Amino acid sequence: MKVLVTGGCGYIGAHTIVDLINNGFDVVSVDSNIRSTTQLLDGIEKITGKKVRNYKVDLCNLEDTNAVFHENRDIVGVIHFAALKAVGESVHEPLLYFQNNLTSLINVLKCVKEYNVPNLVFSSSCSVYGNTTALPVVEETPLAEAQSPYARTKQMGEKIIEDYSRVNDTQSILLRYFNPVGAHPSALIGELPLGKPDNLVPVITQTAIGKIPKLTVFGDDYNTKDGSCVRDYIHVMDIANAHTKALQYLIEHRNESNCEVFNLGTGNGVTVLEAIKAFEKISGVKLNYTIGPRREGDVIAIYANNTKAKEKLQWEPKIGIEDSMRTAWQWEVSLRNKVLSN
Ligand code: UD1
Repeated sequence: MKVLVTGGCGYIGAHTIVDLINNGFDVVSVDSNIRSTTQLLDGIEKITGKKVRNYKVDLCNLEDTNAVFHENRDIVGVIHFAALKAVGESVHEPLLYFQNNLTSLINVLKCVKEYNVPNLVFSSSCSVYGNTTALPVVEETPLAEAQSPYARTKQMGEKIIEDYSRVNDTQSILLRYFNPVGAHPSALIGELPLGKPDNLVPVITQTAIGKIPKLTVFGDDYNTKDGSCVRDYIHVMDIANAHTKALQYLIEHRNESNCEVFNLGTGNGVTVLEAIKAFEKISGVKLNYTIGPRREGDVIAIYANNTKAKEKLQWEPKIGIEDSMRTAWQWEVSLRNKVLSN
């Protein structure tokens, strides 16, 4: 059974490809490599022994996208990861985010329709909930105002798929990720931000290894237990496995409607300062950090109720915050060792 993964050279895409292959799927990837390289595909090959083909195609180009679907008419599903995802950047470049994230999704859906692809899994985000006070969030929690254009592209992307699914045969699942962190335990693949990272865990590991001089905690005056923002950090391999489970769920027709939504989080809220402490504990490295102003577009606190994914997808997050930090750190160290040995 062949699956088309968009954004297969990216962080979550690459980890998901490993899990799909380990569960017997064949995979082809489409990735424009505007925010990634093919480096993670080499790691995937080392882990699984399978060479995954990547089509270097921009999904905003319908003709090129169509050609990929035409060549892969035997796919059982599409997992659509490809998107821009920097919350801060999206605040300053809203049109870039709307243009890229929505055009690519619409083009994927046009091809899914044209080639009668039966199953679709979409990368959504907990950012769709906005600044909600109903914590932990369940899938039915009303979506509050999006706090950034990035988050709005995810809210709109969900609605586009919902409307599409109402009048087409494709079965869809929207997966709302909380904060994916960590790396494959082999340290052969992990998060590979091009340029300066935005996300907390690569900022932590790059500070610890000396690539970044200092970490800034974005605000300690929020109404949370220690004043810093609360997030639900979930290991990327747990997120990856939920995609395989979601696809199997659709293939086996266990879904109750044409479009279902699931939260993918651990259920635990962790503050930025607690995440830093967890890292310091497992690495033995004292982090150089300072408290700075709040970051535009950040929500204050969010963590998941994950009961629905556990019950219906028979999925279970297995890796806690310390092991997540440990694998992220092993990955960062392996990147340094690679540079040193070259
Ligand atoms: C957001 C989205 C998430 C999405 C991700 C993609 C929300 C609630 N979540 O994650 O769904 O998948 O973007 O990138 O919008 N921080 C610092 N210093 C740093 C970096 C981060 O203090 O140098 C803090 C942030 O303020 C935040 C936490 O760390 O409180 C996590 O930030 P980050 O890793 O960027 O992810 P989110 O913005 O939560």
